[in-house]
Amino acid sequence: MIISPSVLSMHYDRFNEELSVLNETVEWIHFDVMDGHFVPNLTFGPDILKAFRRNTKLFMDVHLMVTDPDFYSDVFAKAGADSLIFHYEAYNDLEKCSALIDKIHGMYLKAGISIKPATPVETIFPLLEKTDIVLVMSVEPGFGGQKFIPESSEKISKLKAYKTARNLNYIIEVDGGINDTNAHEIVSDGADALVAGSYVFNGDIRTNVAKLRGNKEKDSN
Ligand code: DX5
Ligand code: ZN
Repeated sequence: MIISPSVLSMHYDRFNEELSVLNETVEWIHFDVMDGHFVPNLTFGPDILKAFRRNTKLFMDVHLMVTDPDFYSDVFAKAGADSLIFHYEAYNDLEKCSALIDKIHGMYLKAGISIKPATPVETIFPLLEKTDIVLVMSVEPGFGGQKFIPESSEKISKLKAYKTARNLNYIIEVDGGINDTNAHEIVSDGADALVAGSYVFNGDIRTNVAKLRGNKEKDSN
């Protein structure tokens, strides 16, 4: 199982310390880009991603919550992204989404499509043959620390069924409100990758990551 901590919730006054723990404990780093327009919050630019890139070999899982993902796909590809995940709702248009997936593949990066809670999962089915990652938002995008929306579970199961029935291999990634009490169920519904921010960075990172994985490692402090 892939754990992808959202660094929206990282303590930047302890950047080096926390990143070195991530380097030893997780597979991906979830990098939430927000433009203050697609969502009512503003986060990181490319220079912050470059700082991560200089200090980790982990897979940089870039989540573009932006109105113009075509423009920002170039910006964050150059800054060191390994995946570029954009929102269907940025275009509400399958052709445009398909073209951007092709463009991201042309940059030799993994392409991901994300849907907000209100968007039915069937909307993006036509894209799933060519998509590497599907990011199910289990909270309304924009902020960390929100509660998992229970209806997300059905979306995860539908994506899993669609993937199995058609022998596709996109990664099902779930993002928002994930903690040690719901991680197991989310994985059994079909998730391959878990994004967690407030849960991972609130307390001992190693212990919290181990709990998400379902083992009860004792607190390392
Ligand atoms: C929200 C972001 C999520 C969020 C997850 O818009 O896409 O990645 O940071 O944070 P938690 O795990 O605290 O819900
Ligand atoms: Zn995210």
